[in-house]
Amino acid sequence: MSTTATSQTPQATTDSLEIRDSRTGTTYTVPIADGTIRTSDLRQIRVNESDFGLMGYDPAFMNTASCRSAITYIDGDAGILRYRGYPIEQLAGKASFLEVAYLLRNGELPDQKEYDRWVHDITFHTYVHENIKRFLEGFRYDAHPMSMMVAGVAALSSFYPEAKDIFDKRQRDISIIRLLAKVPTIAAYAYRHVKGLPCIYPDNDLSYSENFLSMIARMSESKYEANPVFTKAIEILFILHADHEQNCSTNAVRAVGSSHVDPFSAVAAGISALYGPLHGGANEQVLRMISEIGDMKNVPAFVESVKQGKGRLMGFGHRVYKSYDPRAKIVKKLADEVFASVGMDKDLEIAMELERIALSDDYFISRKLYPNVDFYTGLIYRAMKFPTDYFTVLFAIPRVAGWLSQWEEMLLDKEQKIARPRQIYTGYDERPFTPALDYRKKLVKF
Ligand code: SDX
Repeated sequence: MSTTATSQTPQATTDSLEIRDSRTGTTYTVPIADGTIRTSDLRQIRVNESDFGLMGYDPAFMNTASCRSAITYIDGDAGILRYRGYPIEQLAGKASFLEVAYLLRNGELPDQKEYDRWVHDITFHTYVHENIKRFLEGFRYDAHPMSMMVAGVAALSSFYPEAKDIFDKRQRDISIIRLLAKVPTIAAYAYRHVKGLPCIYPDNDLSYSENFLSMIARMSESKYEANPVFTKAIEILFILHADHEQNCSTNAVRAVGSSHVDPFSAVAAGISALYGPLHGGANEQVLRMISEIGDMKNVPAFVESVKQGKGRLMGFGHRVYKSYDPRAKIVKKLADEVFASVGMDKDLEIAMELERIALSDDYFISRKLYPNVDFYTGLIYRAMKFPTDYFTVLFAIPRVAGWLSQWEEMLLDKEQKIARPRQIYTGYDERPFTPALDYRKKLVKF
């Protein structure tokens, strides 16, 4: 088991794969390093000189490593999740979210001086240009907040053109600080806009989570007093959602960032990917599924409908975790604390019944479908009175820390270049184009 971060350079190896091509009878030796072969080593396998050579074909990258990374380690079978070697169970509830954000980017925990500087810098960059506020006011009252997040974060890139100088570490430093600081502000503005409430400016006396809750919920009081149970819940949930190795949205940030675009635009691509119901949008879908079930007595019939292939049990299953998502265990414990504070909720009872049935039913067991991080988070956010379509925003805010750490690691990785996969062409062979339409512009009545 690796106890130290693997080096960024490929392992020296004598291990190899002998490949015999039955088309030519030729045998090739391909090196094995870090449990992988380089698919570019397959290009030598050809039937003749004009042959392009073999490629690997792996739709959705089910079995493809796209990079070398020292940030997050997951063991899906053992249900292990570590940030820079620290087990998630030891960080959640003990560290602060900003301490974890520092760890993810820098690889080591900050000392007190580094931490205080980091918190100071992020605190003092929480304001956004007033034009961003006006830009967000242009959205309809019923706009989905994730649409406003994608647009708002992308718009930030136009306010910091110097961020394009991505190989100047000072520019990366300030861009990372600006994004960690301003994304909660944009998120809160989106919330207040949809509610028809005036935006609340950041309060630099408050911690990161308290300030976010203040921008969300402060009304006429001069100073917002956050419910400590809610502040603790936000801190823990932000830590749990901070990074998760090469998930769909991180892959989007790395791919878009590989074109050397600025980090604001790359993070906006990550927010777009996270918006999808199979990814970060699942926490919103979990609540919609539970309210559709409506009552405990309907749970068995709903489970049966899923087993017949009519829809999915949202919040269950994972590409990597084939056992309980370690984050889900922590979230479930947190849900108990939050509900102890705000009172039990019939939807929580439905969720627990769903979990009880699914964990004992062979359909789910055989497919290794266990609750993932999204299954209980929605219930906590709902208990905190966040609207259902806001849950994925609460996933996006902390994931900015992971996306930026992965973005910078990609940029500084000498093996990386612009992401540009190949394809298996399945279309027509060459065929002639014969113009046959009347191109004159006229209004056609149908
Ligand atoms: C996140 O990648 C990450 O790390 C993501 C994430 C992160 O932190 O970034 O962890 C956050 O996105 C968590 C996942 C949230 N999504 C959901 O809860 C949506 C519901 N779950 C799924 O749709 C699904 O499980 C995925 C998308 C999460 C994983 O899909 P895979 O690995 O591509 O698996 P699959 O779709 O190939 O399914 C394998 C089988 C299929 O059955 P068969 O066709 O073999 O009969 O399992 C079934 C699927 O139909 N299946 C489910 C199911 N998930 C998979 N059946 C019912 N309910 C489900 N939830």
